[in-house]
Amino acid sequence: ASSTEVDVSGIEPGQAIKAVFRKQPLFVKRLTPAEIQAANATATGSLRDPQSLADRTKEGHEDILVTMGVCTHLGCVPLGAAEGEVKGEFGGYFCPCHGSHYDTAGRIRKGPAPSNLEVPEYEFTSDTVIQVG
Ligand code: FES
Repeated sequence: ASSTEVDVSGIEPGQAIKAVFRKQPLFVKRLTPAEIQAANATATGSLRDPQSLADRTKEGHEDILVTMGVCTHLGCVPLGAAEGEVKGEFGGYFCPCHGSHYDTAGRIRKGPAPSNLEVPEYEFTSDTVIQVG
C-alpha cells in the first residue's frame, strides 16, 4: 500500500516527472546521452558523497534516474524536474533555499547539502514500469 508505481515510457530524454512517494516528492528523470556522459565523466572519488551513476540506477536502465525530490540539507524541493526550471551549475537539480547544486546523477556538487538526493528502494516490474518502495 505504501509503494508507488510509475510508468516511465512517456518520459522523453531530458524530461522528468514528479510523483509522490510516502507523501514526499519523487523525481523520475530520463537522462539524455549527454547527461549520462557528464555523470560518467566525473571522478567518483572526488565527490562529497561518492557514488557513480551506475550505483544510483538499475543495470540496463542507466538512463532512468529515480530520486526523492527532497534536498538533503533542510528538505526543500529542488528545482529542475519541471520544464523551464533552473537546473543549477551542474545541470541536474538546484535547491534555491540555500543554494545546493546537484549534478545530472542527482549528486551534491556545490552548496550546503551533505549528501546526494536519496535514491529510494525501487525495481523495474516491466521494461517501462517501476515500483518504488
Ligand atoms: Fe536545500 Fe538548504 S534546503 S540548500
